[in-house]
Amino acid sequence: MPQDTAKNATLVLDASASDLTRAAQLLRQGKLVSFPTETVYGLGGDARRGDAVAAIYTAKGRPSFNPLIAHVSSVEAAKRYVIWNAWAETLAQAFWPGPLTLVLPLAPDHGISELVTAGLDTLALRVPAHPTAQKLLAELDVPVAAPSANSSGRISPTTADHVMAGLAGRIAAVVADGACSVGLESTIVGLAGDAPMLLRPGGLAAEQIEAVLGQPLASRDIHDPLTAPGQLLSHYAPQERVRLDATSPRAGECYLGFGPYSGARACDLSLSDTGDLAQAAANLFGHLHRLDAQGLPIAVAPIPETGLGIAINDRLRRAAAPRDTPAET
Ligand code: TXA
Ligand code: MG
Repeated sequence: MPQDTAKNATLVLDASASDLTRAAQLLRQGKLVSFPTETVYGLGGDARRGDAVAAIYTAKGRPSFNPLIAHVSSVEAAKRYVIWNAWAETLAQAFWPGPLTLVLPLAPDHGISELVTAGLDTLALRVPAHPTAQKLLAELDVPVAAPSANSSGRISPTTADHVMAGLAGRIAAVVADGACSVGLESTIVGLAGDAPMLLRPGGLAAEQIEAVLGQPLASRDIHDPLTAPGQLLSHYAPQERVRLDATSPRAGECYLGFGPYSGARACDLSLSDTGDLAQAAANLFGHLHRLDAQGLPIAVAPIPETGLGIAINDRLRRAAAPRDTPAET
């Protein structure tokens, strides 16, 4: 049952059929609903409605030049909005539903709000694997624009509590359904150019994508606004300073370890006791939220630059970037 205690309060829904129907109704009315995916919680709005998409930008306080990912329930649904190609077919067959976003040329009569694409002639699409996201998207049968459900520049949410801490009172509802299993945003691959291009490392390791494609992914030019819209440096930032590649904490620092580290204090955490990168990815944002709540600077252990470690290090470098760099997402 929805819990709604005050006027304008954000409804906390669960994953029951009746609550998902309520969430779908709200989205159809152009309201904003946060929902779980296997990567992070998304902040959803109807991707065809300019008013709903504008409200996403407002709720997040996000710079409006940054395009959003449209979420759909199936490959068939995705094909309504973009010009499909052989790479897309190969990757969708291998990895959808899952933590992979594909960027493709917009189809004629796509009906997607240009606030979603930020005026580009391409669209980022994803079919999430989380069963609750699947049910919601299948019931709705409309594309849902959904960035991560955090205020712009802050740590991404992997639980409904994280969403509520940042956005309560600013969105209509959150569908609360546990912690996200992958814990990192989707890997984004651009398929609108001459060769498949890695636009953002994420929850699916680039090596796996390259193995299926049978060719290496081109890498984006971070100075080119067309290949890397919205990839500004400072991002996922805790309140206090973050120090990377730290083999141990200094006095007054919390420590985020990797491997069998167990300090004595509440603010000593390990991303994975066994040094497992998938477990570290799943724990990353949750642990950063916990350490952030201590109000102390955070020192982070070195993480191997391989597999999911590439995306983990990408997020950590953004968390540690100087704060005078414009924040985003
Ligand atoms: O896992 C995820 O991807 C999560 C969950 C909620 O699905 N969503 C997410 O969305 O991370 P967001 O808005 O935080 O990141 C979207 C990124 C943008 O920063 C932008 O770089 C890229 O997707 N993007 C979107 N449309 C694009 C386009 N047409 N061309 C290139 N990049 C695009
Ligand atoms: Mg984000």
